[in-house]
This record gives sequence, C-alpha cells and structure tokens, in this order.
Amino acid sequence: MAEPILQVRGLVKHYPLTQGIVFRKQIGAVKAVDGVDFELAAGETLGIVGESGCGKSTVAKMLVNLEKPTAGEIAYKGEDVTRLSGRALKAVRRNIQMVFQDPYTSLNPRMTVGDIIGEPYEIHPEVAPKGDRRRKVQDLLDVVGLNPEYINRYPHQFSGGQRQRIGIARGLALRPEIIVADEPVSALDVSVQAQVINLMDRLQSEFDLSYVFIAHDLSIVRHISDRVGVMYLGRIVEIGKDAEIYDHPTHPYTQALLSAVPVPDPEAREHRERIILFGDVPSPANIPSGCRFRTRCWKAKERCALEVPLLAVPAEFRFEAAGAAAHDSACHFAEEKQVVPPEEPADETPDEPVDKIQDEPTDDAK
Ligand SMILES: Nc1ncnc2c1ncn2[C@@H]1O[C@H](COP(=O)(O)OP(=O)(O)OP(=O)(O)O)[C@@H](O)[C@H]1O
Ligand code: SF4
Ligand SMILES: [Mg+2]
Repeated sequence: MAEPILQVRGLVKHYPLTQGIVFRKQIGAVKAVDGVDFELAAGETLGIVGESGCGKSTVAKMLVNLEKPTAGEIAYKGEDVTRLSGRALKAVRRNIQMVFQDPYTSLNPRMTVGDIIGEPYEIHPEVAPKGDRRRKVQDLLDVVGLNPEYINRYPHQFSGGQRQRIGIARGLALRPEIIVADEPVSALDVSVQAQVINLMDRLQSEFDLSYVFIAHDLSIVRHISDRVGVMYLGRIVEIGKDAEIYDHPTHPYTQALLSAVPVPDPEAREHRERIILFGDVPSPANIPSGCRFRTRCWKAKERCALEVPLLAVPAEFRFEAAGAAAHDSACHFAEEKQVVPPEEPADETPDEPVDKIQDEPTDDAK
C-alpha cells in the first residue's frame, strides 16, 4: 500500500453513563468506539460497514474533529491531529471534510444553495476571496451535475438526490484531500443511490480524493471501495481488499452480513447460504468478555469468552498459498467461506457522466 494519508490507531470514544442530579457519579460508559485501527492510502476508498449503533458515525465525527476521542491517534500525513489546536488544527480540518447522511436535515432550509455551499469560505477566506465566491460556488454546482443558475434556490426546491449533490459540493468547497461520507446514499431511493455513487466515483479521480465511505450494507460500498472494514460493537472485526472481504471472508460476522446481501441473479441466489444471527446486538455499555461477537456467533467456543481475538492475519492463513484469505480478521477460529458467488466484472462506466440531471424535476418544487 502507498504511504497512508490517514492512520488511525487505537481510537476510542466512551460516553460516560452518570447517575444522580447533584452529585453526578459515573456508573459506566457507552463504549461507542472501542479500539479502532485502520489506514487510508492517498486516492483510495475505504468502505466501513456495520449494523446500526456499531459506532460508524462516531468514528466519522472523530475523523473530522466533531468529537474528541477518549483515546487513540488520528495521524494525517504522519501528524496526530488529536493533539493539534489553533491554526494547525484549522489547516488540517480544511483537508478532511464530511458529507452527511440525510440530505433533508443536514442542509439549513433558510439558506440559499449558494450560501450553503459557500459557507466554508467564511471560515477559510484564503481559499476564495469574497469577490470570487459566487463563481466558485457556480463551478461547484456544475461539477456535481447541477445547473449553476440554481444558486439562489432553497433546499426544499430540490429532490433528495439533488440535495445530496449540494452536500457533496459543500464538502468539496475547500478542496479537501479526504472526504468522510457517513451513509451518503442511505436516505435515497435505490435508483438515485447509483447516480450519487457514480458522481462520487468521478469526483474522486477529478479531485484526487481519498474517501472513507460509511454504509450499513455491504452491497452499497462494493463498487466504490478498494478496501472494506466491517465493524461490530465499536471495533473493526475484519478488514481487507474488496475481493478479500466479498469473496474470501473469514470472520463469521462478515459471512452473516454477506449472506443477507441482495443477489440479483436468481440462480446464484438459490445457491446462496443464509446465515441467520440469533439474539440482538448487546448494549455498547455492556460488551461481552473475550470476543464481542460471541453472544451471536454460531461458532463460539469456550476460548471465545476468555480471550479477545486480535485484528490480524489469522495464524492458519499466514502462508503464501492462503491467497485472499490472508487478511486481517479478529476471530480465533477464522475460516474461509464463500457466501456469495464472485461477481462478473462490471461494465466500464461511461466517460460522459450519467448523472447530469440539471433539469430533473424536483420532488417538491413549489
Ligand atoms: N452523545 C452520545 N452519548 C451517549 N451515547 C452515544 C452518543 N452518541 C452515540 N452514542 C451511542 O454510541 C453508539 C454508536 O453510535 P453511532 O451513531 O456511532 O452508531 P452508527 O454505527 O453510526 O449507527 P447508525 O447506523 O444507526 O447510524 C450507539 O449505541 C449510540 O447510542
Ligand atoms: S472468536 Fe469465537 S465468537 Fe468470535 S467470531 Fe470467532 S468463533 Fe465467533
Ligand atoms: Mg450513523
């Protein structure tokens, strides 16, 4: 892997649980993120996937400094940003921007699109002097496939997909190097999801972006990710290249998630094994001992309750012929299992963006 642009080590976010009104006493902690490690290479897309509540958004917020980590390190080009303050922090923040999940609530309804996209320039006027801002915002609208003449419209005059384009344009305004996209397409219709993912794909090469792309479903990140990390209860349990995770998963949780992914081909669907997980996800305030997945794992044995499995290449795959099974997996009994048949290579994306939808009628244009 090329020199990482971002290195995350031992990242932890615990929210204290307190009792009492006058004398507040800490009685525990919600371990939202409980020791996350990963690297992001320049120009790559790392997908992060996991069920609701596993800590994805908390990781995202720490990456863009909206939350302070309880412990751990976030190194941007080798420098730990959790220790920076003042001007140095501001400079780094400019380079790591976020795109939010819900385009309906993340845009201020009282601001015009021009003001929303141009707002980051108020904090970083050096990127766009006042006289230059309107043109810069119009360029951004054009880049995300919206008509630059829409600059004075309000968010309610756009459809969901168009609003997410506005969110992406705002994320691009400061010309960041890294975009952390927290479920950017989850609130959109399936047909619009593909357009927004195509757009992000195109912008990545146009602007040399690195992405951390969060989703709760493995099928959404498949086509955009170079590598994928699977999260469970505050930790990454398996991480590897796209094909390693989809075609050679070794962690039982990843295998269960894959078994629930929609398979379009009816024949392949018939041969796919469904793995139904029993029980609910435990509370992050009360994490099981040993392997945190053991209460729902069909392979759990005594050792799983006693020893925390480390995220590393399992010993049984540390030999050359192990091939794609040789990737990091936090399981004492890691085993390769092909859950879904390998995909046929996808058709090339057309050069001309299919996402130019300048005149798409809005859902609720007044
Ligand atoms: N400010 C907070 N105070 C206490 N607990 C919190 C806080 N923010 C998040 N949590 C808890 O931390 C855990 C992880 O939350 P987070 O929002 O990161 O999950 P997520 O993976 O993004 O879920 P979703 O898929 O639903 O968006 C959850 O149990 C949540 O209730
Ligand atoms: S360590 Fe044990 S409980 Fe955890 S995933 Fe592996 S087999 Fe299941
Ligand atoms: Mg979330």
